Amino acid sequence: MNDLVSLPTLDGPLSDTFGRIHNNLRISVTDRCNLRCTYCMAEDVVFMDKKELLTFEEIHRFVEIVAPLGIDKIRLTGGEPLLRRDLARLIAMLREVPGIKDIGLTTNGILLAPMAQSLFDAGLRRINISLDALDPDRFRQLARRDGLEKVLAGIHAAKKAGFDPVKINAVTIRGISDGEVVPLARFAREHGLEMRFIEYMPIGADNWEREKVYFAHEILEQIETHVAPLVPATNYDPKAPAMEFNYLDGAGRVGIIASVSRPFCMTCNRVRLTAEGKLRNCLFALDEVDLKPLLRGGAATSEIAALVRENIWRKWEGHEINTARFVKPQRTMHAIGG
Ligand code: 5AD
Ligand code: SF4
Repeated sequence: MNDLVSLPTLDGPLSDTFGRIHNNLRISVTDRCNLRCTYCMAEDVVFMDKKELLTFEEIHRFVEIVAPLGIDKIRLTGGEPLLRRDLARLIAMLREVPGIKDIGLTTNGILLAPMAQSLFDAGLRRINISLDALDPDRFRQLARRDGLEKVLAGIHAAKKAGFDPVKINAVTIRGISDGEVVPLARFAREHGLEMRFIEYMPIGADNWEREKVYFAHEILEQIETHVAPLVPATNYDPKAPAMEFNYLDGAGRVGIIASVSRPFCMTCNRVRLTAEGKLRNCLFALDEVDLKPLLRGGAATSEIAALVRENIWRKWEGHEINTARFVKPQRTMHAIGG
């Protein structure tokens, strides 16, 4: 946190003291998951009591409060969001909120195949499916569960339902998943999927070490050597975390989320709501604001809006993964929302 004694503005967009405008809300709808990815959660994780979770009506009210403050983009995350019963109903509810232009979903794909069409029909258009390995043993090693076939079925169902693009997210860990980069890139290129590689971050329950980060430049080198030449994309969103590349021959696109080697905190436009209603202005935030008592207790819209403004105004400069000052948050990824 910075020590500024200045006060947030009372109207206008959701800004912080660094001038970053926040229009992007990530909502975790559950901390539960049907996988146990090593880089995300502990095997013996204890999940929240279900009655702690915000109801769809409470989430909807929150979105109604923040849309007039400039939030226009939403992503639903987890845990695994498809474990939340009737998620399509929430999508349909949020789509109706004036000002909300776009709703996305990040899923591990296990439950996706039978649900893809109903999610699309409810108004979902952006979908990111996590897939770290195409080798079944490697998949099991990383996810501590089986499920590769189901994820692949989910990816094909998403394409068939009409999602375009379908983005595939892979976390890369040196010595474990680095051998998956080339097969995943080829797979995505062959199937018309947008592949995105994510540098391994210290946000899980495991023992992160810098040496285990497989860096963006190494990923790019692998793809250029073994798949095909890339050129930086010109038609990308400069505020989005991924560095985007197109294949020189025009057949496909690759994104790299270089959170460690090239932090993008200074263009961050994201704020997060956890499944039990805590507002987090950074993935790595060390403090959070509990909004559930207000949402559940019938607090005035103006009171909740003021707390959101205040929290975002006080956002720090960014994570300090690359410094000795870095402090890992208590909450691990599954309980924050990716
Ligand atoms: N480092 C990088 N990405 C992570 N994710 C979860 N934990 C980590 C981590 N430690 C990613 C998942 C998924 C999204 C929800 O967050 O792979 O794509
Ligand atoms: Fe589940 Fe996603 Fe965490 Fe893996 S990374 S355990 S799929 S929430």
